[in-house]
Order: sequence, then C-alpha cells, then structure tokens
Amino acid sequence: MSDKNNQNHTGKGKGKDIDHATGIETTGHEWDGIKELNNPMPRWWLWVFFITIIWSVWYWVVYPSWPVPGGATLGTKGYTQEGALKESQQEIFARQQVYLDKFQQASFDEILNDQELYRFAMTGGAAAFKDNCATCHGAGGAGQTGYPNLNDDDWLWGGRLSDISQTLHYGIRAGNMDTHLSQMPAFGKDKLLSREEIEAVVDHVMFISGQVKADSEHGAQIFAQQCAACHGENGQGDREFGAPNLTDKIWLYGGDRHTVYETVYNARAGVMPAWKDRLDENTIRQLTIYIHQLGGGEQDDMAMEEEAGDVREREDNAGQL
Ligand code: HEC
Ligand code: HEC
Repeated sequence: MSDKNNQNHTGKGKGKDIDHATGIETTGHEWDGIKELNNPMPRWWLWVFFITIIWSVWYWVVYPSWPVPGGATLGTKGYTQEGALKESQQEIFARQQVYLDKFQQASFDEILNDQELYRFAMTGGAAAFKDNCATCHGAGGAGQTGYPNLNDDDWLWGGRLSDISQTLHYGIRAGNMDTHLSQMPAFGKDKLLSREEIEAVVDHVMFISGQVKADSEHGAQIFAQQCAACHGENGQGDREFGAPNLTDKIWLYGGDRHTVYETVYNARAGVMPAWKDRLDENTIRQLTIYIHQLGGGEQDDMAMEEEAGDVREREDNAGQL
C-alpha cells in the first residue's frame, strides 16, 4: 500500500466505497482488485489496548521509570531493585547475627557441643570452602596432586582445631612471619647429593613405603644423614616441619619411583595462601570446624585451646607491628 495508491483511490471515489459482496465500507486500499474492508477493531482487542495504556501510566507513577540525571524518577512507592536486594540481605544478616554473636564468644568446644552453633559453623564452613578452597583442595576436600586430602587423618601440619586454625590464618610458605615454614632442599638441582646417592635414597624410600622388598644400605645411611631430621628416623614424618610420612600409602606428590626421584631432585615447596587478611575471623572459625569435621580431626586438649587463644592474640599484636 502506498500513498500513491491511496490518492488514486480517494481521487477517483470521493465519498464512501462500498464493497458489493458484503455491503461493508472499504478502507480504500486495493491490491490487484482485492479490497480491504473497514471492519471495526474487535472489542476485546480495544479493551486490552486501553488497559495496557492505563497500566503503563500507573506504572510510571508508582515505580521508577523515567531516566533523569543520576538515576530515574523514584515513583510513589520508592522502590528500587538495589533497595529490595539490600532489604533481603538485611534479613539474612539479621538472621545470621543471632548466631554470630553467640558464635564469636563461644570456644571451639562450646561450638562442638551446641547443635545450633555447630550447624551454623558447618553450613558457613561448607559455603566458604566452596568459594575459597575447592579450586585447590577439590570439591569435597579430597585433594589432588600437590594439594593434600583434607578428609583423611594424614596431616602435614596437624589435625587439631588449633593446628588447622593456625594453618588457615597464616598459610604455608605464604610469606608472612607466622606462616608454616620449612623447605626441603633440592638435593639434585643444588648438587647436595650425586645422582647415585639420590638413586640409593629413593631405593630406601621405596623400601620404607613398602613398595619393594629389598632395602638399600647406602640409601638408608643417606636417609639418616640427610632426611631423618625432617622426615623422622623411620620416615614416619614430622609435623614440626610439615614433612610427610613416607611410610604410609598416602602421597602428596606421588609414590612411584620416578615421582619420588623428582621430589628429591627438585624439591616441591607447595604454597597455601594465608587467609587472615582475606576472610573474616568468623569465617575462618567456621572453616576450621568444617575441616576438622571432614574427617581425621584430632582432639584438642585444654592446652591447645589456650594456644588457639594465643593465635588470636598474636594476630592482634601483628596489627600493631
Ligand atoms: C592455591 C591453592 C590453595 C588454596 C586456594 C587453598 N589451599 Fe590449603 N593447601 C594448599 C597446599 C599446596 C597445601 C600443602 C602445602 C604443603 O606442602 O605443606 C595446603 C594445605 C592445607 C592444610 C594443611 C593440611 C595438613 O595436612 O596439615 C589445610 C588444613 C588447608 N590447606 C586448608 C585450606 C582451606 C580451608 C582453604 C580455603 C580457605 C585452602 N586450604 C585453600 C593449597 C591451597
Ligand atoms: C628441611 C626438611 C626436609 C628435609 C631435610 C627433607 N625433606 Fe622431604 N619433604 C619435606 C617437606 C616439607 C615436604 C612436603 C612437600 C612440599 O615441599 O610441599 C617433603 C616431601 C617429601 C616427599 C614427597 C612425599 C609425598 O607425599 O609426595 C618425599 C618423597 C621426600 N620429601 C623425601 C625426602 C628425602 C628422600 C629426603 C632426604 C634426601 C628429604 N625428603 C629431606 C621436608 C624435608
């Protein structure tokens, strides 16, 4: 349909053009001899149309709608999505606050013995774990090569609440004053041992880990001189140095001959970040309990509770340094 078409028509017809077959007036539009009848809009359609107009006017008045410098008109309800979000967050915070106040005051012991606080710690811990830890330690804390399994009772640095708390606060080789620090020498790369000596001591590791029947006497000697200080006389590990037990079947990097050789030749020095400046104290406490309960958590005695207190104190002091 075009203006030209229209004009042709009005020019020709003037007045009304009635369709012969139906007796209904046409709009004057014609295509190849087919004429458009000028039927009125269906009533229902008109009603919907008017209702949408009324609704949109109501919406403009009540809700923010017109852009103005610095935002939009507020509307009579003063509603904003941001406000709605804040409100629902406020509700969550308020619900949390009830527990947080108690949680902050409670000792680990009290938390473990209080069903509500315990559930609060576990839920918060699980969520924080997913957000912060799962990338390295795996979704359920099952670990992967180089990242320890947190479900078992094989601990590098200790599985008491106080140990875990310390590990979480200050990390491992994380470059702060209180971090767990120990460094296995790179015996091959730094030429502390010859290749043959490394072969021999690896043979000994294969023996004490129960993978081969025959020990290497030479290897055992080297182990006593070079390795026992950290890994213990019998290779059972030492938490003081985060040195893994070499006699169990649990490996951080791998227990096959090739991997053990790699470890001794190059050393590893895995790094675990410190969390004291990234997570708030309550989250760290939730995580501590969560990790402890995952499996293999060890008993804190009273002295240990005090030590945990020391950690918190030291942290306060660190702020002043
Ligand atoms: C960037 C990777 C990374 C992230 C993220 C990480 N860790 Fe670790 N974590 C490690 C490594 C690596 C070690 C082992 C270091 C070593 O060789 O001693 C470790 C060790 C630990 C240990 C000590 C285990 C033991 O046997 O003593 C605990 C507990 C732990 N992590 C908990 C956590 C928690 C909880 C989080 C989250 C808040 C977390 N980690 C996030 C890498 C990570
Ligand atoms: C200064 C302490 C120290 C000394 C000395 C030391 N280690 Fe280690 N070793 C460690 C630490 C800490 C780890 C933990 C891994 C890491 O560095 O991330 C480790 C890890 C290992 C591992 C890997 C275990 C696993 O689960 O994958 C092997 C194998 C090992 N050491 C063998 C030796 C042998 C053999 C010697 C002697 C030639 C030795 N170490 C000397 C501290 C030491």
